[in-house]
Amino acid sequence: MDNPRIDEAALARLLDGWCTDARESLHRQLAAALTALISSGELPPGTLLPSERALASTLAVSRGTLVTAYTTLRSLGLLDSRQGSGTRVRGVSQPRLPGSATRLNPLSGTADRSIADLSSAALPGQDWVAEVVGSVSPDDLRRWVRGHGYHPAGLPALRAAIARHCTEDGLVSAPDQVLVTSGSQQALQLIATAMLAPGDEVLVEDPTNWGALDAFRDRGARLRTIPLRDDGVDADVLVRLLRSRRPRLLYLAPTVHNPVGVNLRPALAKVIAGAVAETGTALIEDLSSVDTLFTGPPPPSMATLAPDAAVLSIGSLSKLFWGGLRVGWIRSTVDFVKQLVTYRSSADMGSSVPSQLAALRLLEYVPRARRTRASQLRAGYEWTAELLSTHLPDWEWVEPDGGASLWVRLPEGNALAVAEAARRGGVLITPGSVFSATDGQLDRVRVSFAAGPDTVLEGVQRLAGVWRTRRRLR
Ligand SMILES: Cc1ncc(COP(=O)(O)O)c(C=O)c1O
Repeated sequence: MDNPRIDEAALARLLDGWCTDARESLHRQLAAALTALISSGELPPGTLLPSERALASTLAVSRGTLVTAYTTLRSLGLLDSRQGSGTRVRGVSQPRLPGSATRLNPLSGTADRSIADLSSAALPGQDWVAEVVGSVSPDDLRRWVRGHGYHPAGLPALRAAIARHCTEDGLVSAPDQVLVTSGSQQALQLIATAMLAPGDEVLVEDPTNWGALDAFRDRGARLRTIPLRDDGVDADVLVRLLRSRRPRLLYLAPTVHNPVGVNLRPALAKVIAGAVAETGTALIEDLSSVDTLFTGPPPPSMATLAPDAAVLSIGSLSKLFWGGLRVGWIRSTVDFVKQLVTYRSSADMGSSVPSQLAALRLLEYVPRARRTRASQLRAGYEWTAELLSTHLPDWEWVEPDGGASLWVRLPEGNALAVAEAARRGGVLITPGSVFSATDGQLDRVRVSFAAGPDTVLEGVQRLAGVWRTRRRLR
């Protein structure tokens, strides 16, 4: 069978919207957009691409921009160019698993203790959490065991406790505005299932939480990105896209953004809340990392800034207490919660009752647990920052408001290659592209300190060794 070919007009159509970031170089944006088309299968292996000259003229960019973008993709092993036979997408056609199953799971980590794992930012629970979970007694459970155990909206007492918890954080809530989920990841999956049809457009920041990208991609959504710079999301681009594209959903992580670790600045939050209300866009605000703040109290949620807008606020007990509880929630309007409950029933019929009873107890310890988390995380950040400054002085990172990782800009090199060299050198870090809907962010890596100070020390020393070797080889 002949290999497919795509002409410059068709490729330009597929690339629609590739150039939205005025501060990013054209060749990088183009390389990122082409990478996204290759990894999504829209440009299958073997496809013959248009010549650099023809595509440059159709996209109205210089030939140099095309040459640099194609060269980047060749160096990443995504394209193959042969004298006389043009440039083709590389690779052998193979069965593709649908949806997220083909993507890297940054939680997979390693069981090999000789490897310093700085890739996962998931925090271990604290010892006392085991005591509180273990204090749920047979008597507590008995009354529930006598019933069928399926509570798709969550146990009434837990919905009330989560509503109080939201209210204490400034988002006044009633119990029937709360749907208990199995972690905030299920909250994202449920909303995506309920709201998205294939082809619907979702606006996401670039970079953003990989779990959200998976949830939206699994529904066949078209992801459109808003650049997130070191000083915050580009609110001008965001508002323009809200008005011009009228996307089905906007996903933001305004408090302790994953992976960058920063809060959305209050002035930008107000502008965005105004545009969300004006355009009637449904907004998911992911607040699941709020408990990792170590620079101050939680800022006002977007739902309070845009009280009349369709806002779905997502929360979780994973970061404060333990991910293994699998307790999170969606807080929205009573009507929307009711609709979501029907989807929830067909997903898993409801969360585990013992976990919900444990969550109910744990919620009594929020202030104390937040204080402990904040001081642990601040110490972890300071330790990691000091080690990086000492051992990798030309690596720069964004000063975070919270979280258990640093979003690092590499002074040179490609994040995928650096992460691979690091793995061979005995340390795992996450390449920035994992957090990018366009497989961009290739000058960034996420370095986590969730594994504790000794692992961070070992990991950063190994990273420095890997970096020295790469420098020598250049
Ligand atoms: C921003 C964000 N959202 C959601 C999740 C999912 O967490 P969980 O399902 O345990 O609440 C994570 C996990 O790391 C996250 O960082």
